[in-house]
Amino acid sequence: MFSLKNRVVVISGASSGLGAQMAKGFASQGADLVIMARRLERLESLAEELRTFGVKVLALKCDVTDSKMVNEAAIAAEKEFGKIDVLINCAGSAKNAGVLAMTDEEWDFTIDTDMTSVFYVTRAFANIMKKNNYGRIINISSMYGLVGNPAIDTVAYHASKGGVVNFTRAVAAELAKYNITCNCICPGYFATELTEDVLKTEQFTQYMKATVPLGRYGNSGELNAGAIFLASDEASYVTGVILPIDGGYTAI
Ligand SMILES: NC(=O)c1ccc[n+]([C@@H]2O[C@H](COP(=O)([O-])OP(=O)(O)OC[C@H]3O[C@@H](n4cnc5c(N)ncnc54)[C@H](OP(=O)(O)O)[C@@H]3O)[C@@H](O)[C@H]2O)c1
Repeated sequence: MFSLKNRVVVISGASSGLGAQMAKGFASQGADLVIMARRLERLESLAEELRTFGVKVLALKCDVTDSKMVNEAAIAAEKEFGKIDVLINCAGSAKNAGVLAMTDEEWDFTIDTDMTSVFYVTRAFANIMKKNNYGRIINISSMYGLVGNPAIDTVAYHASKGGVVNFTRAVAAELAKYNITCNCICPGYFATELTEDVLKTEQFTQYMKATVPLGRYGNSGELNAGAIFLASDEASYVTGVILPIDGGYTAI
């Protein structure tokens, strides 16, 4: 079960963090990959590593907040592989501030990067999936898309990730007729470039112990099994699901 051999998997935000971790997980399942981000040199070096699994890899420079660039990436990916089976919307970044202090620019940056981009990329790649009557879309939201939090003021991140959660349900309902599923993973804290400075502080360690039933943040690779399952042929009857992978944070 869960082989992804001959499947073409697109991952946005693959130049670091969870996207790069998932790219390795998918390569180990035999998937061919289209990896996208703005830092092409990082993608090229990841591509070299992924090819050692015996899979084909196309690295594409793409700013996901630029719909023209996203559309061009989709054309290039289809030209290379002839089809797209799986899309993982993982690219993201945030300007953190609370509702009382956040500037218009900080709000727009976060909504554009974390929510509008998911629409641009889904539109471009789902139109290719539709031609083949097959698709698996997996959106990487956040546990903060499901709840508020008392530790870090980051109102636009909560809003955009919450938007991605319900975007997932709308797309699942709309694209089911094309045999395209759409599901969402809501990660808890994982150590990546986005988070590691914060995670290693004593204050945060105590926060994890108090708020996460498993008492810790997620380790590299702990997101992969959920993503591989949702991307698999075997998940053919799973759509519109919101899957927290958060050590139990949203369970209490
Ligand atoms: N780590 C966590 O604890 C955690 C928890 C919950 C949810 N998440 C979500 O997981 C996703 C990945 O986060 P991460 O922790 O892996 O962070 P990360 O290591 O900073 O990676 C973010 C990725 O997004 C890409 N990206 C950012 N802005 C982009 C843009 N405008 N166009 C194209 N690519 C862009 C970055 O690539 P370039 O800079 O090369 O473009 C990078 O590959 C994000 O959506 C994040 O919100 C993370």
